[in-house]
Amino acid sequence: MGKAKARKNGLYGDISPELSALMRTGWADTERQDLEPAEQAPYAAARRAALSALFPGERLIIPSGNLKTRSNDDTYPFRPYSGYVHMTGDQARDCALVLEPRAEGGHDAYCYQLPRDGRDDDEFWLGYHAELWMGRRRSLAEAATVLGVATRDVRKITEDLAAAPAGVPTRIVRGIDPALEAAVTTDEELDEEFEGTLSELRLVKDAWEIGEMRKAVDSTVRGFTDCVAELSRAIATSERWIEGTFFRRARLEGNALGYGSICAAGEHATIMHWTTNDGPVRPGELLLLDAGVETTSLYTADVTRTLPINGTFNEVQRKVYDAVYEAQEAGIATVKPGASYRDFHEACQRSMTEKLVEWGFIEGPADRAYELGLQRRFTLAGTGHMLGLDVHDCADARNSEYVDGPLVPGMVLTVEPGLYFQADDLTVPEEWRGIGVRIEDDLVVTESGHENLSAGLPRTADEVEAWMAEFGG
Ligand code: GLY
Ligand code: MN
Ligand code: MN
Repeated sequence: MGKAKARKNGLYGDISPELSALMRTGWADTERQDLEPAEQAPYAAARRAALSALFPGERLIIPSGNLKTRSNDDTYPFRPYSGYVHMTGDQARDCALVLEPRAEGGHDAYCYQLPRDGRDDDEFWLGYHAELWMGRRRSLAEAATVLGVATRDVRKITEDLAAAPAGVPTRIVRGIDPALEAAVTTDEELDEEFEGTLSELRLVKDAWEIGEMRKAVDSTVRGFTDCVAELSRAIATSERWIEGTFFRRARLEGNALGYGSICAAGEHATIMHWTTNDGPVRPGELLLLDAGVETTSLYTADVTRTLPINGTFNEVQRKVYDAVYEAQEAGIATVKPGASYRDFHEACQRSMTEKLVEWGFIEGPADRAYELGLQRRFTLAGTGHMLGLDVHDCADARNSEYVDGPLVPGMVLTVEPGLYFQADDLTVPEEWRGIGVRIEDDLVVTESGHENLSAGLPRTADEVEAWMAEFGG
């Protein structure tokens, strides 16, 4: 490591040899001897074993990712690649898991990590991303203990890969660490397939992961009640108050949010990804709140409730709400092992199609409307997705394993029908315009059916009103 470059507008010039010498001495040995393997370590080992079995004789590289510049010398909060987290339980930046094939079969796993900063040059106190500025990292030995996997110095990964046995087919997850990607020769198509497999290995959660999903959802339930309790302050300010209130819960009990909270009051509820959250919160309108706490282990919930800001649904709001509830009930009822992943989607969409035909907003009969997809003018989005380390988890899985596959115990998914009547939609009566309703719950598929992890929140219109009467502020 060389001397850090002086900052252009820094107040200090040269470093005197005396200061440099002073900085390098007098530091205690802080190596931790008290660490134990993480609870997740044996689960991560089993996940690596499953991956190893799918790629005999191949070298596999899964990077964690690097810091990304936000502006000038400021960076975004670091979020590791989910495939890396899944295979290691680790969340550190600039790392990579390498599975090196053994001649006798199987793989040796090495987790390449950024070691602690030495105190033998000036980098440790001048480097902008050094520990003294960013916080202490684990030493290689500490990381090996906690993760339960051999660790190596990531600064030597290129060297190690160059010295590794030649002729071994290699795959890397692309788009995560450009420098590391440039250091290996791989086939784009095979890399894509590898990324898909990593996604597929996350489709069924293990027992430890389901425990984390419970934590994420339980905390999210508390966050939703916080928001109801703070409604009057949101009315006095804006949707931002809701956003901040939920974020406080997420940050306090977890790492952060699993995705940008959608705090959509009034006609903003018809905008699928409304995360600007700067609009007014008006009594008489609805608030659609779609938010999820991400645990410290990075598993996220994804829950939506739609509530009347004044505590009581009006007639049209209740009509829409009841239709979405009915659709969600129809969808949830299909979630069980052996069902097709598409079943809950179809049940929700059919139910809402029937309502839209009954209301005269699309032309019937309902079967024909459904075949033609006419309901999509008002349903807009899909009706659910896998959930886990990513809010839209397992997104690179093949269709045959995901959307065209069967439900299997251990899968965690959302069921989230919604109806959205745009403010400028001339095909519906005026009092329907600007109404958006979504109800979203997080389900785990069990041996006998499913469990609704977010059942702690009210779902029927009456329950929502009672909840608001009890907690509303
Ligand atoms: N919050 C994003 C989604 O519900 O899929
Ligand atoms: Mn969702
Ligand atoms: Mn959502």
